[in-house]
Amino acid sequence: MASSSYCARVAPAFFRLCRLASGLLLFACTVLLAFLECRPAAADAPLNYMVTHGSRAQAIAHLAWFTTIISILVIIIVSGLLLAAIARARRRTAPVLPGSAPVERPAGGIAWIYAGVGISTIVLFVTMVWTFVTLAETANPPPGPPALRLQVIGHQWWWEIRYLSDDPSQEFRTANEIHVPVGKVVEISLRAADVIHSFWVPALAGKTDLIPGQENRTWIDALRPGVYRGQCGEYCGEQHAHMAFEVVASAPDEFEQWRKRQLQSPPSDLAAQAKGGQQLFASRCGICHSVRGTSAGGNLGPDLTHVMSRGTIGAAALPNTPASLAAWIADPQHIKPGNLMPRLDLSAPQMVLIRQYLESLR
Ligand code: CUA
Repeated sequence: MASSSYCARVAPAFFRLCRLASGLLLFACTVLLAFLECRPAAADAPLNYMVTHGSRAQAIAHLAWFTTIISILVIIIVSGLLLAAIARARRRTAPVLPGSAPVERPAGGIAWIYAGVGISTIVLFVTMVWTFVTLAETANPPPGPPALRLQVIGHQWWWEIRYLSDDPSQEFRTANEIHVPVGKVVEISLRAADVIHSFWVPALAGKTDLIPGQENRTWIDALRPGVYRGQCGEYCGEQHAHMAFEVVASAPDEFEQWRKRQLQSPPSDLAAQAKGGQQLFASRCGICHSVRGTSAGGNLGPDLTHVMSRGTIGAAALPNTPASLAAWIADPQHIKPGNLMPRLDLSAPQMVLIRQYLESLR
């Protein structure tokens, strides 16, 4: 009799403990997996903001790692103490009448409250100071003139990039791909053409909003060469997810070569067929797109002067290959519904002419 009533008392508590332990184990595994998932190479996780390659993002990542580790420690310690308290209370539970509960609290234990409040205060204070230091560190670029000044304009749903210079002949426009020299500070002024967007290159810098009628500023410095994925970080309509871009960081001399190429206009002495393509492009596409040195001078869509030098099209919606370029021209609404580029209903020979002309813009 005695042993069966003991089982009836202990079994539910045992199962509750098992449930709690399995819950904690599951949680620990999830945290561990999340931690491991932060580690893979940049290609697997292009928007990973915990592994960074720019001073601005690094300052934020250090704080994020600190708060993540502190949070995990707090959960482990509090869960351990809770389990210990449950086990301890079970051991010394006095027989209680059914339906009643003891009202008096055992003396002692106040030291735990002092310790808990004290440790929490210290941790929160350190986090607060660290946050202020990080904000100050990331708000302004390091002193001294920047190596490069850019203006980035957010459009639904693509990025216009203007390379600024004191000498107007050195300025040019491009789209959805930002080239920067490695190790140099790049100052970026941000504007929006329509709605609020947010400039975000997780590996290089945290988000800064682009707000219509306002100029915001941010800066980046890529600490090593590579291609870093950027993404609009503020919901801006149907194709928000397809409003991405790439930051290509290369050695300063390589960057200089790229800049010089971007400044060149496409050759004007074209063969007859290419000339036909250019004229067709200017009449059908030139109201929205521009190609420097030609009569195509539209400002509504991306500048296509060196479109084939870019890695992607459609704001990183597709890789820039002849096949995807052809698919885009044929039906941009199928690839990115709602974007401003209409279906042009070109005949097959017209399609070929325009595609060949675009492919010559390197
Ligand atoms: Cu632009 Cu979201």
